[in-house]
Amino acid sequence: MYNTNNSKPIIDWYNSNKRDLPWRNTKDPYKIWLSEIMLQQTQVKTVIPYYNRWIAQYPTLISVANSNIDQLLKSWEGLGYYKRCRNFHKACKIIYKSYNGIIPKDYHSLMKLPGLGDYSSSAIMSIAFNERYPAVDGNLNRVISRVLGIKNLTNHNKKRVKKFAGDIVQCTRPGDVNQALMDIGSLLCTPTKAECTKCPNQKICKASKSNNPLSYPNKIKKKPKPTVFMMAFCLMYNGKFAIQKRNKKNFLGYLWEFPSFESKSLDRLNENIIYSYFGRGVKLQKKIGTVKHTYSHFKTVVDLYLCSANHKKININKIKWIENKEFSKYAFSKLNHKLLSLIKSKDV
Ligand code: ADE
Repeated sequence: MYNTNNSKPIIDWYNSNKRDLPWRNTKDPYKIWLSEIMLQQTQVKTVIPYYNRWIAQYPTLISVANSNIDQLLKSWEGLGYYKRCRNFHKACKIIYKSYNGIIPKDYHSLMKLPGLGDYSSSAIMSIAFNERYPAVDGNLNRVISRVLGIKNLTNHNKKRVKKFAGDIVQCTRPGDVNQALMDIGSLLCTPTKAECTKCPNQKICKASKSNNPLSYPNKIKKKPKPTVFMMAFCLMYNGKFAIQKRNKKNFLGYLWEFPSFESKSLDRLNENIIYSYFGRGVKLQKKIGTVKHTYSHFKTVVDLYLCSANHKKININKIKWIENKEFSKYAFSKLNHKLLSLIKSKDV
């Protein structure tokens, strides 16, 4: 029987093997919080340059609270899952107004802030404030499932994992134990490899004693993603491009994009559709090409058309006319960057 209070092998392993990551050189809860938000659904190597640039631009919570969302989204551009940025901004403003700019050292207050759930609140509590909260993300679920020999991550088994993680952080360095397990999950005990001989958990790990550690826990079959067909428009007037701001409540809210709408796969664009969408004075010139993009929950196939307008009062909301050199001022999603590259490659 393994004594879960014994975090020593994990801490010893962490002392000599931990990854040198920029958010690990600080105890500033603002920086640790930012890192945890950026790291949700996103790989460490992708996050590092974004984190470093963000901290250079917004060194304090107050600097975020005092910035506008367009500026912040421009800094987040390319990192994806933009709701994280909008929620981070909202939460910074709440802390600035209601907590005098001081991040509460209290799990329940953190949990009430936009964008913070059990995992991120526990990560902040343990890493920034040295409090004994287990931060169980996907990596920890896998590592601990293997230790406990769990095949099916049922709700009951998730509770066992959480209990194990909760016991193991009952020590003097709970944040380091959490981060050690994250590193073990990223370096040694991944979905596709189990380097058991290097792992500090080897002695107690049930999966490691089996003939197939990788089969713990069972992989959950992902549902196939539906495909959404779209038409997007490079609409020009007087050498300028029309861009449109997405509604704040929608997916990718506040980001800019080329005007677009959902279509059926077999729809052919014609002047009637152009008229009913843009109103009068817009002419279809040609099809520029097709771009594909995959989001977390659907795929999209977008046909891009060149259109010209003979006036600038176009019948759609929140439109702005910009010059070619101004694209870099606005935050666009990856899909729209792909559309922009296509436009530039065709020398429109
Ligand atoms: N993933 C989520 N949080 C992390 C952290 N603090 N260090 C490394 N990977 C992480």
